Amino acid sequence: MSTALVTGAARGIGFAIARRLSTAGHRIIMVDLSPQIQHSATTLGAIAVQADIATPDGRDAIRDAVRRSGEPLDILVNNAGITRDALLADQTEEMFRLVARVNLGACYELTSALVTEMATGGAIVNLGSRAHLGNVGQFNYAVSKAGVVGLTRSLALAYAPRVRVNAVAPGFVATDMTDAMPEHVRERIISRIPLQRPGSPDDIASAVAWLGSASARYVTGQVVYCCGGRSHG
Ligand SMILES: NC(=O)c1ccc[n+]([C@@H]2O[C@H](COP(=O)([O-])OP(=O)(O)OC[C@H]3O[C@@H](n4cnc5c(N)ncnc54)[C@H](O)[C@@H]3O)[C@@H](O)[C@H]2O)c1
Repeated sequence: MSTALVTGAARGIGFAIARRLSTAGHRIIMVDLSPQIQHSATTLGAIAVQADIATPDGRDAIRDAVRRSGEPLDILVNNAGITRDALLADQTEEMFRLVARVNLGACYELTSALVTEMATGGAIVNLGSRAHLGNVGQFNYAVSKAGVVGLTRSLALAYAPRVRVNAVAPGFVATDMTDAMPEHVRERIISRIPLQRPGSPDDIASAVAWLGSASARYVTGQVVYCCGGRSHG
């Protein structure tokens, strides 16, 4: 049986990805810093690891869990991410550093820690965001997700031909993360989506599952926009 690891899997897009990969027959390791991960993993019959991907101890715990599973990792989904939104004038250096630390730094560090545990023919899928094109009020987040694009493309070259590396760039997806936005901002964003609805976590999970599967065996270093057509609007 093949093994897939999903970070930020306690809820939202990460949980939907874990559920999707579980349904496809993979054994799942679900990681999150929230204690909710225990319940979410139990729901799917998955292995839970409560850990912070942004700390060395957290990454060690994750790598230990992979080793304990006794099998190489076939799919790594770097999904955990955070926002600290504010207009540029109100951004603090701390907000910038924290978002870059989790969304970009920890994504790189966890991938480096786990790549030696990956099976030949394995796949890494990073969660980017359409916001890397630039978003008012999300300067720090946009910069971090632009970094994820560079990371994805560079690691794809570094790990080829052994492991493929791609990214999915969602647009607006209805989760706790976007629930935190002011309602007028959410309504404005949704009104600009050509497919006329917010994305669902399952919409994103479909794209991730495809990139992780053998159907995408000739795809590496790419960013798949999954945003209802809003990528450049
Ligand atoms: N929701 C959207 O509209 C949207 C759009 C584009 C991209 N994304 C990206 O998709 C991913 C998932 O987003 P979501 O909406 O499901 O978010 P969410 O806030 O609902 O869930 C994120 C999960 O990540 C976990 N997490 C955060 N920091 C962590 C850390 N340091 N270590 C371990 N776990 C950590 C949280 O506890 C949470 O369970 C993120 O990378 C996000 O940037 C989301």
